[in-house]
Amino acid sequence: MSQTDSTTPRKILVLGATSGIAEATCRIWAAQGASLFLVARNAEKLAAVAADLRVRGASYVDTAVADLDDTDQHPALLAHAINSLTGMDIAYLAHGILGDQPQAEQDFNTAAQIIYTNFMAPVSLLTWLANFCVQRHAGTLAVISSVAGDRGRKSNYLYGSSKAGLSAFLQGLRNRVDREGVTVLTIKPGPVKTAMTSGMPKSDKFADVDQVAKSIVAAIDKRRDILYVPFIWQPIMCVIRHIPESIFKKLNL
Ligand SMILES: NC(=O)c1ccc[n+]([C@@H]2O[C@H](COP(=O)([O-])OP(=O)(O)OC[C@H]3O[C@@H](n4cnc5c(N)ncnc54)[C@H](OP(=O)(O)O)[C@@H]3O)[C@@H](O)[C@H]2O)c1
Repeated sequence: MSQTDSTTPRKILVLGATSGIAEATCRIWAAQGASLFLVARNAEKLAAVAADLRVRGASYVDTAVADLDDTDQHPALLAHAINSLTGMDIAYLAHGILGDQPQAEQDFNTAAQIIYTNFMAPVSLLTWLANFCVQRHAGTLAVISSVAGDRGRKSNYLYGSSKAGLSAFLQGLRNRVDREGVTVLTIKPGPVKTAMTSGMPKSDKFADVDQVAKSIVAAIDKRRDILYVPFIWQPIMCVIRHIPESIFKKLNL
């Protein structure tokens, strides 16, 4: 495990590196001179992101093309990435799908795909990564969940339940590994302007991806446990979580 002093570039593994939020975060890390290993499933987009980050000042950029639903490949992929970086200070999990809620209400395979990509694949990655970090008594696992996981709503309860499962998994993992010197950060964004939300009504009012990325970098630096971003979502979700179910079930959310 490398040291994170001011002279050594941080070694950061990014899973889902072509995500809008991940890209914006990596731009900040690149400007700080970080070493990056980027994983994404679209080779062309990945090459473009990697080239951009090299120009922006990253001290090292390597890549691997992988569909992260292929959990059998995770151990080899992660070992290769850490070997390439010669260590790992931060693993950043950013991949995910919104999925088609109306279709998922009718078709279990659609529902299962959302759960698999957003929950099962991260559990596989984090199981390997947590054990790697525990052995070294160091490292940060920063994972993008969502405010949607804080309460199930009719408009997106498949996505929401996949993120609720992920948030609960991260809570338990943190409780296990914090005492081993490993930090687990659960990132809960509200709506953010990225490809995932571009077709949604009022998406121009959603949070700016660069501001969100800035908050994520700061939360990782402060070794925080949970980040609601933008911050306003923390009180909003507190209220939403406390609405009695007898009322909540009648709301159109
Ligand atoms: N935007 C929001 O409002 C919002 C709010 C809360 C949470 N989040 C979460 O933030 C994270 C990043 O999302 P985003 O907003 O940046 O959206 P995005 O730009 O659509 O990014 C999603 C990324 O996940 C990748 N991906 C999906 N399935 C994959 C798989 N099986 N293997 C490898 N990569 C896969 C996509 O790759 P391709 O480009 O190849 O499809 C894409 O790069 C997600 O976990 C999302 O759930 C987003």
